[in-house]
Amino acid sequence: MAIQISPSILSADFAHLADEAAAVADSADWLHVDVMDNHFVPNLTLGLPIVKSLRKAAALPLDCHLMIEDPDRWAPAYAEAGAGSVTIHAEAAKAPVRTLRTIRSEGARAGLALNPATPVDPYADLLPELDMLLLMTVEPGFGGQRFLDVVLPKIRRARELVGTRDAAVWLQVDGGVSAETIERCAEAGADVFVAGSAVYGAQDPSAAIDALRAQAEQ
Ligand code: DX5
Ligand code: ZN
Repeated sequence: MAIQISPSILSADFAHLADEAAAVADSADWLHVDVMDNHFVPNLTLGLPIVKSLRKAAALPLDCHLMIEDPDRWAPAYAEAGAGSVTIHAEAAKAPVRTLRTIRSEGARAGLALNPATPVDPYADLLPELDMLLLMTVEPGFGGQRFLDVVLPKIRRARELVGTRDAAVWLQVDGGVSAETIERCAEAGADVFVAGSAVYGAQDPSAAIDALRAQAEQ
């Protein structure tokens, strides 16, 4: 599978989301949307109404990352709202298999996210239920944090479990992905890269995406 880049609008200007989405539309593969509820993580961002509006305003498919309690209740609505991909956290889901199946039945790709301290092996049997496994490379909640190298062995292990690069399950990393860290992630086996501050903090977000992609493809 080719390398994919999913810029996170968490680092964009929330007063101009349509413009910020347009700024990456030609170079990115997805638009990563961080939904936070101030319960699962200590930060509050945006929810369903903004996702519905973004769906109409943005050309890229939405990659919704739900950092919320009770994803079993809310995730299906994001899929119904037209998200291309909906990712729930293993630490929060009470019925992950049911919820992942519902996401798929609504026509979206189903993702499962693991925090840095959550091991991947207990989820190996769930892989057939997933379209994407997201390994957090920071503690979720905020953009601009430092990449956690301690997650690299888990990325390697996940690649072993998922299989070769043309595997059905994509392997996404999120947090601290930048020009300094993306090569390490790619070498460990990640193929979908979320980048917030490295893209929206750059003078030219589109050029930053091209540069990240080139580094990951090496
Ligand atoms: C963090 C979010 C990330 C965040 C990444 O909890 O899930 O998507 O926006 O931002 P950077 O790339 O700046 O670490
Ligand atoms: Zn995210």
